[in-house]
Amino acid sequence: MIKILKRTPWLAACLLALLLVSSCGESTPKYIIGVSQCSEDSWRAKLQDELIMATYFNEGVELRFTSAHDDSRLQEKQIDSLVNSGIDLLIVSPNQVDNLTEAIGKAYAKKIPVVLYDRKTNNEQFTAFMGADNYHIGEMLGQYLAGKLGGKGNVVEIGGLKGSSPAQERHDGFANALKKYPEMQIVAYQSGDWTEASGETAMRMILKEYDGKIDAVYGGNDRMAVGARRVIKENGKDNGNILYLGVDALPTENGGIRQVADSILTASAIYPTHGDELLQLAIDVLEGKNVPRETMLKSSIVTSQNAKVLLLQHEEVVRQAEYLQKMHRQAGSMREYIENQQTVIGVILTLILITAILLGISIRAYQTKHHLNEKLKDKNKELEASQEKISDANQQLSAINEQLSVTNKQLMHEKEVAERQRDELEEQRDKIIEMSLNQKGDDVEATGEDIINGNEKQFRRENEFLVKFLAVVDNHLSDSDLSVEDIGNEMCLSRVQLYRKVKALTGKSPVEIIREERLKRGHQLLADSSLNISEIAYRVGFSSPSYFTKCYKDLFGKSPTEVRPSE
Ligand code: FRU
Repeated sequence: MIKILKRTPWLAACLLALLLVSSCGESTPKYIIGVSQCSEDSWRAKLQDELIMATYFNEGVELRFTSAHDDSRLQEKQIDSLVNSGIDLLIVSPNQVDNLTEAIGKAYAKKIPVVLYDRKTNNEQFTAFMGADNYHIGEMLGQYLAGKLGGKGNVVEIGGLKGSSPAQERHDGFANALKKYPEMQIVAYQSGDWTEASGETAMRMILKEYDGKIDAVYGGNDRMAVGARRVIKENGKDNGNILYLGVDALPTENGGIRQVADSILTASAIYPTHGDELLQLAIDVLEGKNVPRETMLKSSIVTSQNAKVLLLQHEEVVRQAEYLQKMHRQAGSMREYIENQQTVIGVILTLILITAILLGISIRAYQTKHHLNEKLKDKNKELEASQEKISDANQQLSAINEQLSVTNKQLMHEKEVAERQRDELEEQRDKIIEMSLNQKGDDVEATGEDIINGNEKQFRRENEFLVKFLAVVDNHLSDSDLSVEDIGNEMCLSRVQLYRKVKALTGKSPVEIIREERLKRGHQLLADSSLNISEIAYRVGFSSPSYFTKCYKDLFGKSPTEVRPSE
């Protein structure tokens, strides 16, 4: 792959560009946290808001909420689906202590950390717990009530959902506080399910069975206490002195603090939500930090004395929270703007990168071309130098050729002269022979006469002699060094004898006959177009073609070129 990218830089550029542009888009969350709520009410709504707000300070955290509406079976299913959706951590407020063992066990098996919040389970399968000390809250309210009633009085208790940990712990703490006051009794107890309606129902049931004096009503939470109060009032059982206690003390509209301030409730214990702390705990777990197994949140009692101050404080907190929300929205649009800018910058950078790469490729191509051109120039120079050398060599060659042809011409001329001189010499020798024969009176003509006058036998012998002579000449026609002596030797005659016989029979000297025979054969060969005049001259024993031409013209009256005009 890397090799391919190295070979094709434009492909690498495109991939990088895609990477750059895609990285400008939305990022996937770093952590996904599932939040399984057991109920849906104002306390949980507050917790949810705080959790969401806390994500503003923790980039890359996604929250997935579910609510079981106080139904443990539904919560089990919701946890299953959260776990299967690929969460990294599970926050659970278990509806009841013993119904979620299997669902939480599955999360555990998948190595998903589990943070229990507010309520507990009956086993140790959890990574961390965060919540208020419900036993302490119950105890605190018990002591407060004892103080208010002077250690004497009948208390009706509306407990929280049966099987849920806060219901049990709040009751236990409260009952334990009353133990110190023997004249204080929990005269009636009924469980609700944390809702106002369940507080009403529970109170109705109590009133059916209990008709005695009621000094105080202790509700497992504010909503149930308010529901019970309504029923007591409806039944004319409230003489105006009954104390109503609850838990939660929400600062929200119609929450516990407002009800204490409005004297609907006598007192309420703050049951803190602290969503921001809960999210931080979850992130710490995800980041592998050491976290305490149990984090207990502080509580306090709200009475008519501090309720208004707390409401004012809460108003301030709400104002700050709203401001925070506004800032978050602004930050959101800012981020969106920056992301858009990043996309634009990414595209621009990509274009610049592609342009730079293309430029690089062009420069490289130009450099390569330049380099090749330089090489080509060098080669051309080398070629020119070689051509110059060749032309010098050619000039030298043609000079040599010229010299050669001059030398050749000189040679030919010398040959011609030599050949002619040789013939002239031969002729002079023949003349000397003739002169010496004439002096001896041994006339050639006379000898010829004898032959003519001789008998038939003699004539034939002489004729045979001539045929033989011509045959010998013919045989050596191409031999330019052929001399009369050579022929005489072959015919066993001296040069003088040969001269006498040939002159007597033909009237010509052997030298003349040899030349004539050569020229006649040359004449015949002129008809053969495959041979040029020089070749013909050599073929018939002339070593000089020009001398051949001269002799030919002497014999035939025209030069060989006239016979063969094409040459
Ligand atoms: C909210 C709530 C509170 C109560 C808490 C106990 O769902 O019912 O009113 O204090 O749960 O877990």
